[in-house]
This record gives sequence, C-alpha cells and structure tokens, in this order.
Amino acid sequence: MKDEISPLKLDTLPCLEAKALMRQFGGLVAVNNVSFTVHKNEIFGLIGPNGAGKTTLFNLMTGLIRPSSGQLVYQGEEISQRPPHQIATKGIARTFQNIRLFGNLSALENVMIARHIHNKGANILSTLLTGLLSLPSASRREQLNKQKAIALLDMVGLSDRAEEKARNFPYGDQRRLEIARALALEPQILLLDEPAAGMNPSEKHQLSEFIREIRQQFNLTVILIEHHVPLVMGLCDRIAVLNFGKLIALGEPSVIRNDPSVIEAYLGNE
Ligand SMILES: Nc1ncnc2c1ncn2[C@@H]1O[C@H](COP(=O)(O)OP(=O)(O)O)[C@@H](O)[C@H]1O
Ligand SMILES: [Mg+2]
Repeated sequence: MKDEISPLKLDTLPCLEAKALMRQFGGLVAVNNVSFTVHKNEIFGLIGPNGAGKTTLFNLMTGLIRPSSGQLVYQGEEISQRPPHQIATKGIARTFQNIRLFGNLSALENVMIARHIHNKGANILSTLLTGLLSLPSASRREQLNKQKAIALLDMVGLSDRAEEKARNFPYGDQRRLEIARALALEPQILLLDEPAAGMNPSEKHQLSEFIREIRQQFNLTVILIEHHVPLVMGLCDRIAVLNFGKLIALGEPSVIRNDPSVIEAYLGNE
C-alpha cells in the first residue's frame, strides 16, 4: 500500500486563507496579524513554541472563537463569523490537543455520533424522496452509518475493539479514534492538533503514513500542529512558524529547517 502512493501533484488552488488575522485575550495578542494561504490537498504544518498561538488559530478556523480583526476565507467564502456547526458542515473538521471523546461511549458510538451530525446536513428533498420512493429506511440508513463507522475504525486500526469504551483505550488509540471521528464528518480540511502527542516512535511513524494515505484517499487538505520535528519535516509540504502570535516563517521544510529566525525561536531548543 505504502509503495503505491506516488507524490501528489499539488494544484495551488487556495483552500483556506488567513488574512491579517488577529485575536486578543485582554492585553495578550495570541494571534498577531497572521496571513497565509493553505492550498488544496497540501499537508500544511503549523509549528512554534508553546503559547505561540497555534491552537488559537485552529479555534478561529473552526468558529470556536471569533477574530478581533482580519478574515478567514474558506473556498472563497468568509467564515470567521460563522458558528462551529456551520463550519463543520462546510467541511472543516478537527481533533483537539486535549482529547475530547465521549469516554463512556464505545469507539463505534463515538464515530457514529459524528456521522449523525454529518447526515443532518442532508437536504429535505432527499429526505422526502427517500420516504416517497421507499428508499433506504431509517434502520437501513442506520445500518449504512454503522458500516461506514466500522470502515473508519478499521482504517485507524481499531475495528476489533469497536465495542470498547473510549476511556479504556490507551492514549495513542484515543488520538486515532478522534481522527476517525473527524473523518466521519467527510471533511475537506482536517485540522490535527498535536496528533502524535503520547505516541511512541513506531506509532508516530504509522501516524505519518496514515495521514498521507487519508490525504490521498479522501482528497483532503490537512493542517497539522505538531512538536515532533522529524515528523513535521518529513510529512508536510509547507510549514508555517508562529512565535508570540506572529508568523515568522513560511515555506518548504528544507527552507524552514535552515531559517535562522526559526532556529533561534524554536528549532534551536530541540
Ligand atoms: N481562551 C483563552 N483565554 C485567554 N487566553 C488564552 C485563551 N486561549 C489561548 N490563550 C492564550 O493565548 C496564547 C496562545 O495559546 P495557544 O493558541 O493555546 O498556544 P499554542 O497552541 O501555540 O501552544 C497563550 O498565551 C494562551 O495562554
Ligand atoms: Mg496548542
């Protein structure tokens, strides 16, 4: 499988654009006049020291918080004033730095809940037609939902433990389960906030391969916050570096690795 993946030819269509994005918390400027464009199908890395504003950028991109000023343009549309569920329905899904699973529910239920949210996006006409033409009934739909959820669990290597409660999974598996749940929304952009945290080296390597595979399979754009530098350098097409809320560098891994300001602010500490 791994060997069949050829390098993707990235078109440079803008998928998500940050335009002079700014977010303050009281006197603290967490995101300071940040502008960049993420292209369709790229794996875009976001790195920088703790507190640099990376998660705040994700919170802005998913509508959890609003910018103090500036814009976020997704596929040509300004989205920064929209509520989270609308942004999710438009195709931006995420995982969280602090895992947010329903611990008391099974792995399968965690993924199926996301599919329910996805299905709510179905329009009323298709719902009516389904009824009129006796197309798949609710229970049949539920069955399909379940099959899709199991397929996703299979992709992340968790299908044999589908019935286990999420809280009983080891940390690395919970992170994988969160990715399966995000994919259940059938997103166009997947935002991953430190997905390799708590994983051992072999799990990190697997995760890296997995991200490449899902990019190809689902035609995804991926934005990745990650501290593990070899993973970021090996996986990302381009990398943006934040420091104290400001974008201090943006470019391909080879450029970022040798950028003096990045070495001083971040890589030098590694
Ligand atoms: N909701 C909030 N209220 C107040 N301060 C916040 C909030 N969210 C983030 N911050 C502050 O903004 C800065 C950037 O945080 P964050 O985006 O989480 O950094 P990173 O993810 O790069 O480690 C930090 O100083 C953090 O304490
Ligand atoms: Mg963070």
